[in-house]
Amino acid sequence: MLYYRDSWAEINLDAIYQNVNHIKQHLPSQTLVMAIVKANGYGHGAVEVAETALEAGATWLGVALLDEALVLRKQGIKAPILVLGWTRPEDIHIASDYSISLTVFQNEWLLEARRLYQGENPVFLHIKCDTGMGRIGVRTKEELADVVKIIQEEPRFILEGAFTHFATADEPDPAFFHEQERSFKDFVDYFNELGVQPNVIHAANSAAALKKEGNLYNMVRYGIAMYGLSPSPAMKEQLPFKLEESFSLYSKLVHVKRIAEGETVGYGATYKAKKETWIGTLPIGYADGWLRRLSGSDVLIDGKRVPIIGRICMDQLMLELDRPYPIGTTVTLIGKDIPIDEIADRLETINYEVPCMINERIPRIYLKNGKKVKEKNPILPE
Ligand SMILES: Cc1ncc(COP(=O)(O)O)c(C=O)c1O
Repeated sequence: MLYYRDSWAEINLDAIYQNVNHIKQHLPSQTLVMAIVKANGYGHGAVEVAETALEAGATWLGVALLDEALVLRKQGIKAPILVLGWTRPEDIHIASDYSISLTVFQNEWLLEARRLYQGENPVFLHIKCDTGMGRIGVRTKEELADVVKIIQEEPRFILEGAFTHFATADEPDPAFFHEQERSFKDFVDYFNELGVQPNVIHAANSAAALKKEGNLYNMVRYGIAMYGLSPSPAMKEQLPFKLEESFSLYSKLVHVKRIAEGETVGYGATYKAKKETWIGTLPIGYADGWLRRLSGSDVLIDGKRVPIIGRICMDQLMLELDRPYPIGTTVTLIGKDIPIDEIADRLETINYEVPCMINERIPRIYLKNGKKVKEKNPILPE
């Protein structure tokens, strides 16, 4: 037993496997899949998701930070990994030592990295083109030419890839998506004019890959849909295959009591019983990521919805029960009949944010073929 509390998340690895397998079947056979496992695999566990995605046919892994890439390498993952964000030039030797590909787009960065890099091994680079996301990337042909020139001049720098990121691929109006597509095609054509041909060219995120809209080049970057979530509410009705949610959240009743009419519950005494009422307490709160704004939302107990009442505390919350349940009764906060999209709506945010916000205080239990295969409690290392 690696954890000593009755709140936990279950990660269904079979769902992740299926979601990857389905996109593989949906795309042309030569299109590679990069599984995006940044942010600890969108809160699911980067290593476990990466291993499952690779088994299901993904061949690349994408992370946001060099640290996240190292987590994968240190767990023995050998697949190519791309850091999608900016890395410090002084850390280039780490990328080289661990064979981690880096995103580049600034000529000053390349000059500085070249100056600082003492190693002899090659460093694999992907040039990011900013076609409208406005985040990172070269914005003009001139900037691209400068960056390519420095890479070409340095034999230890290998131009491995080129990519862009779409800002609106999940939205119904395709106009801006097509503008970005055209702009990226111009960049790709310009690579040819410069006489260089990156091996891997990638643009599509989950939304573009699911819609198969535009040029998929030779790789897609598959994030949210791998976790079984629709890239946007608008896309839910037009998914080419059923996505299976992989993240559930559970807790157990630790206390059940009856309170009289007029008695109050929680900080601020905001809940006042209108009649005699059964109240249950769960050992989960905002310090676990179950935010105070979820007060008033439902959880599922014995197949029935019951509301969270009063203010959610740091480590506990209270429920208004329809009857006295035994202590130890399992309560579903996310799972069958309480999908992540419902929690996202309640928080007026996107589904991406929900599993990411359930932090490391909540142990993760991994299921494969319906059986528990691993437990992880990051706050209590083995
Ligand atoms: C550069 C990049 N590529 C791909 C993805 C994956 O996007 P999605 O989760 O929508 O598939 C992300 C996620 O934000 C990203 O930042």
